[in-house]
Amino acid sequence: MGVTGAVDAVGVILDGLRRLEYRGYDSAGIVLVEGTGSSGGGGPARLWRARQAGGTKSVARLAEEVSGAPADATAGLGHVRWATHGRPTAANAHPHLDCTGRLAIVHNGIIENHLELSAELRQAGHAFSSETDTEVVAHLLEEALASVPPGSGSGPGPSALAVAVRAALSRVEGAFALAVVHDGEPDLLVGARRVSPLIVGITEDGGLLASDIPALLGRTRHLYALEDDQVVEVRPGSLQVTDLGGRPVEPRPLRVDWDLEAAEKGGYDDFMAKEIHEQPLAVRETLLGRHLPDGSLMLDEMRLSGAELRDVDKVFIVGCGSSYHAAMVAKYAIEHWARLPVEIDIASEFRYRDPVLDRRTLVIGISQSGETVDTLQALRSAHRCGSKGLVVTNVVDSSMARESDAVLYTRAGPEIGVASTKTHLAQIVALEVLALYLGQLRGTLSPDAIAELLDAMRALPDQLEEVLRRGPDVARVAEGVAGARDFFYLGRHVGYPVALEGALKLKELSYLRAEGYPAGELKHGPIALIEPGTVVVGVATRTRLWEKLMSNLAEVKARGATVVLVVNDGDEETAAQADAVCPVPRTRPLFSPVLDVVPLQFLAYHLARSRGLDVDRPRNLAKVVTVE
Ligand code: M6R
Repeated sequence: MGVTGAVDAVGVILDGLRRLEYRGYDSAGIVLVEGTGSSGGGGPARLWRARQAGGTKSVARLAEEVSGAPADATAGLGHVRWATHGRPTAANAHPHLDCTGRLAIVHNGIIENHLELSAELRQAGHAFSSETDTEVVAHLLEEALASVPPGSGSGPGPSALAVAVRAALSRVEGAFALAVVHDGEPDLLVGARRVSPLIVGITEDGGLLASDIPALLGRTRHLYALEDDQVVEVRPGSLQVTDLGGRPVEPRPLRVDWDLEAAEKGGYDDFMAKEIHEQPLAVRETLLGRHLPDGSLMLDEMRLSGAELRDVDKVFIVGCGSSYHAAMVAKYAIEHWARLPVEIDIASEFRYRDPVLDRRTLVIGISQSGETVDTLQALRSAHRCGSKGLVVTNVVDSSMARESDAVLYTRAGPEIGVASTKTHLAQIVALEVLALYLGQLRGTLSPDAIAELLDAMRALPDQLEEVLRRGPDVARVAEGVAGARDFFYLGRHVGYPVALEGALKLKELSYLRAEGYPAGELKHGPIALIEPGTVVVGVATRTRLWEKLMSNLAEVKARGATVVLVVNDGDEETAAQADAVCPVPRTRPLFSPVLDVVPLQFLAYHLARSRGLDVDRPRNLAKVVTVE
């Protein structure tokens, strides 16, 4: 967040950071523009910075450190970081400075082309002091400021800093919400956004920037939401918004009647609803920067060489709960695209069954938290057998990330609801990128095929937005089956893990009996349980075994089950077999789990709420399971 013109810049920033604490973070930092206050005496302004990497204690530690901060600061920036690029250390915490130390930046999002930019900037003599993608923007701004004509920013004309921000952003690809200060224009905050949200608040004699509404609540009613590719100049009591070309645009006022609790939940009733609606962003961010201009794919911390990975002759994937379901989808993708044999294991069983592992085996661990003890121990036991380890996790520097040979991060942001939603979708997407990566290395996929598949993946966030708009329709489907006690979830091929995930969501949230089955297995026993009143939820989008699935569904319908189907848009033939349908857009079969699972999240959510249950904190469950 950023503050200018406030009486107590330090207090306002720290208070804002505390209000963002609910999201979880690993480090925090603050920069103050010294000499801008009433006692500044007109001398040259300077930047004062403090940063702490103390997990959830970071803001408290920062508060102790700022007792030594300049008392006359009236402008500054603060940030709580959830690491994506670079470990959660003080050196990686924001704000980041340029080489001169006169400019500071805080940033949310991902600079997709940071490797290319940092190589260019290093070549030009810039010294980097962190492992973050953000720091490239500080140095780009330094370059851009040096090219701004002298005199800009010293009078009523255009601000030199805003000119530099617009110039620097024309080089940047990816997602950002950023705020910048420079000691040459000490009362000015410049903010900009693309994809990641940024809010502006104006008071009579001050101005505020924040990534989320809670930080600004109660400070002012004059709030504005910046749109994509807009730049805002905030001075005490005023704001000016332009597009990236410098043309003025009218700021969009934001009306907020929420209290702090509602604001933390983004206006939704609970974190689960908020996180379901954050899924397009989670998928978009997980995909950012994976495809380099030379056509190669990029993971995050790849400590395994191409030669080592080409040597792999077998893959095991381990995980628990929703992460295991993501592993199931990954098996289809890796076998199909990379032509490598894949075994999947529930992590708590893996190390007790004496799997055949050697140095040519790649063991992939999937864990949102990176701390689940069953998965951690499974990876450790594989490591002891000489296997290579790769982790897909949402938490940078988690135990699994630290101990593995390679890491692929999902960038879903912190997930507070106990039920996995956005992290599960991000896992599927990340694993499918990994499958493409292995296909590329092994030469089983052509560059054209990879580019085409990535295009289809990049369409997923917009398709997810469409599925989210249909949430109220699923609420009506839920009303129709609200009295039922027994649910079967059926799917085939990649629809099978979706069915398991749908059943898990229903069990954990609504405490109703729900079983997930590969539909072809039903006739080998479970069909005996089907009777009038049983609800059968089928994942009936057009994947490979659609016809066979339809025959299996006819069998349950004939026995009186109520049939709810996830179908593709416009598929009347499938819809005609159902008592109720949840349509989703079409995508390639291997990507369909990303869309198909969302109506099932909604179904579980609405059924749980209709039973008066707390969807964020279901009974008997913990978000991170650190016991065996
Ligand atoms: O943090 P992890 O992904 O390792 O957690 C594994 C499971 O406990 C987790 O996926 C759990 O099944 C979900 N929260 C259920 O929604």
